Amino acid sequence: MSVNVEFASDGRQGIVAEGTYIWDAAKRLGLRLPAECGGRGECDTCAVIVREGMTLLSELTNAERTRLSPERLAAGERLSCQAKIERGGTLVLDPVPATERAETTEETKRDFSTEFRHLPFDKKLATLVELEVIAAAQTFKAVAELPSALIQKGLGVMAAYGRAREQRQRAEHRPAEEQTEKQD
Ligand code: FES
Repeated sequence: MSVNVEFASDGRQGIVAEGTYIWDAAKRLGLRLPAECGGRGECDTCAVIVREGMTLLSELTNAERTRLSPERLAAGERLSCQAKIERGGTLVLDPVPATERAETTEETKRDFSTEFRHLPFDKKLATLVELEVIAAAQTFKAVAELPSALIQKGLGVMAAYGRAREQRQRAEHRPAEEQTEKQD
């Protein structure tokens, strides 16, 4: 049996087969819903609101119970990569607007670059300094978490590199005669 799927917000609609996941149904209708975790049920970017036809869908999965709050579930939200259309009929959906779900990494990056572009020069500078401090703190934290044997090894490599560099510099600054003598 086939299912009539409609997206209320833009009027797109089409027929899909039973057993299709909502995400695939949307794609078939030309609507690529975001899917930051690649359909593993680990984000909420693919969420849709079911306006009509909730009974046509599979049971809630654990991922949906975890990712969607009780309020969002009560409002008819489902994760499109998890909800399968199991029965024939009409299903009316809408994507959940980005403002009502967690931002994707891409969206966060985009927001940051837009905001940064519009900052006055001194604020841009202050932001860059702040980022530099955060990066340095993260580096120190990462180093502090390394096993001490690894740190010792790293320090050993750096010391050996320093000694080799010093020797090279000394050799370069030696008088020419001394260098010739050495070659003989
Ligand atoms: S794509 Fe991440 S939960 Fe559906």
